[in-house]
Order: sequence, then structure tokens, then C-alpha cells
Amino acid sequence: MMTTPSRSAIIAGNWKMHYGPEQASLFALEIVPVLGRLAEHYPQLVTVLCPPAISLAAVREVLQTHPFPRIELGAQNMFFEEKGAFTGEISPNMVRELCRYVILGHSERRTYFGETDDMVNKKAQAALQHGLCPIVCIGERLEQYEAGQTEDVIRFQVQQSLADFPAHAVQEVVVAYEPIWAIGTGKAATADGAGKVISLIRRLFEERYGNEAATTLRILYGGSVTSANISEFIAHPDIDGALVGGASITHDFVEIVQKVSETMQR
Ligand code: PGA
Repeated sequence: MMTTPSRSAIIAGNWKMHYGPEQASLFALEIVPVLGRLAEHYPQLVTVLCPPAISLAAVREVLQTHPFPRIELGAQNMFFEEKGAFTGEISPNMVRELCRYVILGHSERRTYFGETDDMVNKKAQAALQHGLCPIVCIGERLEQYEAGQTEDVIRFQVQQSLADFPAHAVQEVVVAYEPIWAIGTGKAATADGAGKVISLIRRLFEERYGNEAATTLRILYGGSVTSANISEFIAHPDIDGALVGGASITHDFVEIVQKVSETMQR
């Protein structure tokens, strides 16, 4: 991680389908004061909590009663339409009322709910139009990784999912490189392996949006991140943080943020 004034580190916790409003509120009450003290000391670090949509308001309330800088709220998904007959969906406006961030195109959305690169791109564009920071997830499947196709897959996903962003909002985009074989498996990528793919993503972004946009683009690694391996990832100059799944609903999340803070101190 090479923090520049324009490129802060981000540690985002994707709670997935865990913690309804009551439990979410209790868990947030436990971790927010500790995260908040870390955030106060490290202005270059942003922490994002992403509970299920139904628990966003409860966690927001905790954040409002314990106001700390740079602890943000994120949704795990949204639809791209403004409003209408879309049962079960939430719109960019609705998300924006509560959140600053939104995770889009997570591999579980792509695998279980049929999201395509085209949909992810529409969602990301809608997010930017509504002043949200999209955390756009990309990453290859195990068989693609084993067949040596990672670069081609990433190239294609960048072309499709990260296309046509307006110049004035492109600096709000966050990308999460999440090799699917590393998600929830306990088998994280190596920092070197993830770093190479992330450097490629930055180069591809530069080709499309120019040098300045590529320099400010925050790119996170995701996949079995814990407090035991975060320091390796964060030490890589091109990796700007992590999207944490399983460990984000435990107190290990605080340890992860603590480790990142320690690395930034050096
Ligand atoms: P994991 O999940 O940390 O449990 O591997 C990461 C993610 O799905 O974003």
C-alpha cells in the first residue's frame, strides 16, 4: 500500500447474510468504538461496514451515536433503476439515504443470482450518478486460475464491468480483486500473486481513464483475509486494502484494522 494524499486505504467488512437489525446493532456497538479510536489516529484509513440491507439503519444509528471520522456504511448490493415494480430490490437513492459505499458484482451475486458484467456495469454507473462509491468486485474462478486464464478473465471483466464511467466521478470507484477460489476457503492468494493482478487492473484502468484516475484508484484484495495475513497484503505497494468476508463478523475485524494501522505507522 502506498498511501498518497488522494489514495487512502480501505478495509471493508462484507457481513454477507449475517446479523439482522438486533444482532447487527449489538455487534456494531462492540466494534465501532475500537475502530473509531483507530480511525481517529489514522486519517489515511477508511473502514466500511457492510451489513445486510435490512440492518443498515440499525448500524447507522450506532454510527450516529458514536460518531467517528472515516467509519462508513456500505450496502452489499442494489438495483440500477430509480424506482418501480422491482419486488425485493433497493434503488441507488434508497442506498444513498443511508450509505456512502455499495459493494457491486460480488461473485456470490454473480454465481447465485445471475448477475452479469453488463448488470454490474449498469449498477456501478447508477451508483456514481447518485454520489455513491461503488466497490466493484472482479475475480477468476478456480478452473480459470488453474488453466492460467486469470489475466484474460480480468481483462475482460475490467472491459465490461468498469466501462464508461464519467470522468468527473471515476475517482470514486473502488475495485476489489477477489479470486473466487480464495473466497471463504481459507486459501488466500499470496500477496505477490494478488499484487500482480492488481497491478494489471491499474494498468488497464490507466489505458481507459488515464494516469491520474489510475493513480487515485483504490484496489482492494479479497479472499480469506484475516489478521494473520493482512499485513502481507497491505505491504504490497499496489494493494490499497481489503474486502473482508468471514473475519468481518468477528472481532478479528478489529485486529485486521489494527494491523493495517500499524503498517501505516511504519
Ligand atoms: P472471505 O470473503 O473473506 O470470507 O473469503 C471475502 C468476500 O466474499 O468478500
